[in-house]
Amino acid sequence: MHENTIIEPFRIKSVEPIRLTSREERVALLEAADHNLFALMADDVIIDLLTDSGTGAMSSEQWAAIMRGDESYAGAKSFTRFHDVVQELTGFKHIIPTHQGRAAERILFAEVSGAGDVVPNNTHFDTTRANVEFAKAEARDMVCVEGQDLALDAPFKGNMDVEKLRATINEVGRDNVPVVMVTITNNSGGGQPVSMENLRAVRAVCDEFDIPMFLDACRFAENAWFVTQRETGYEGADPREVAKEAFRIADGCTISLKKDGMANIGGLLAMNDDALAKRCRDNLILTEGFPTYGGLAGRDLDAIAVGLIEVTDPDYLRYRVRTAEYLAEKAWAAGVPTVRPPGGHAVYLDAGGLLPHIPSHEFPAQSLACALYVEGGVRGVEIGSLMFGEHAPHELVRLALPRRTYTQSHIDYVGGVIAAVAEKASELRGYRIVEEAPHLRHFTAKLAPL
Ligand code: F0G
Repeated sequence: MHENTIIEPFRIKSVEPIRLTSREERVALLEAADHNLFALMADDVIIDLLTDSGTGAMSSEQWAAIMRGDESYAGAKSFTRFHDVVQELTGFKHIIPTHQGRAAERILFAEVSGAGDVVPNNTHFDTTRANVEFAKAEARDMVCVEGQDLALDAPFKGNMDVEKLRATINEVGRDNVPVVMVTITNNSGGGQPVSMENLRAVRAVCDEFDIPMFLDACRFAENAWFVTQRETGYEGADPREVAKEAFRIADGCTISLKKDGMANIGGLLAMNDDALAKRCRDNLILTEGFPTYGGLAGRDLDAIAVGLIEVTDPDYLRYRVRTAEYLAEKAWAAGVPTVRPPGGHAVYLDAGGLLPHIPSHEFPAQSLACALYVEGGVRGVEIGSLMFGEHAPHELVRLALPRRTYTQSHIDYVGGVIAAVAEKASELRGYRIVEEAPHLRHFTAKLAPL
């Protein structure tokens, strides 16, 4: 029996109390938040699954590293430690810290792309798309066919459609494709991994046209773990070696270190190209800071340097990926469909499948997200028509799992909340928008139940 339980491979040294609320309180709090979960205060949430970004727990070694932080403006020892760990992991020549992932994206796309350019990606994360578009270029998603089918169980649904990539380059011309991006794991596609075979196939196309290949590697360790579990030839491989190999297929990367960096803040831009690195550093100085701290405190760089070592521990990754699978199994047992297979960092509930009586324009995923909050104080995020308008491909609620933060009993609790909501699914009603902003309306929209 004990061998069947994959335990949290850590014990708890410092705790953060959770304020427990009653259903009546939550009904009133949701009403006061205009039925938008972003407007809730964190203290009014029992289990916060809004994001896995910057919300993880740091280890005792990371906290110890915080005390070693060297806050010198230039050439701090913290930068050297950060630099050495990142270079060992990625192999890239130029290592540029930024305050978070989107800052790295802004600098990269400002320096490589412009009007008339097209940037291919398996699926752009929303900040990545926004930064491509801010540079006046066009962001094109080209995830493989399997990746477009929510219910299909396939091992590497994050893979890029390589033929589509080649066709795109032929169509727009190689001079108009400044970079090819691959997001590992593919967050917007359900946290699905990309195979090493696919990374190499993308590389071959990039070589054919002499275009640089960059990874959006926020969840590089989770991706590497999936490779060791699912890809022929990598069975039993060390996830760190797999991650190293993945980085060495590419010419550079952007990373939000708030995910697999195991830190609460931080980002990275890295590459081999000397001339591009010089331009990026000059741009960095304009808004982020000197190139040896890039908008971070020295102590942040030290915490990240330790986090980037801890994150590829196989015991941690086994527990991490099992947690998402365990939560998905609870949802399935309650009759709630999810994106399959479960991703590395999150479970995506299929509200469209659970609530067929609520049409898209009445926001079924928002209805499910609000019901999970009222039922048990669980906060997820709507990824559907409220977020993307009429172009939403699916109606999903993402339950993202902060790293090393919640225990199995917290996950059991979330499973119970999902089951209780599923029992009342036919009673759930849709919502209408009362007030909305012209861009990214999901963050601030005010809603009312129908
Ligand atoms: N790329 C991917 C794949 C991401 O998931 C994120 C952030 C970013 C880039 C941007 O990084 O937030 O540090 O600027 N994803 C978070 C999420 C916000 O909730 O999925 P950032």
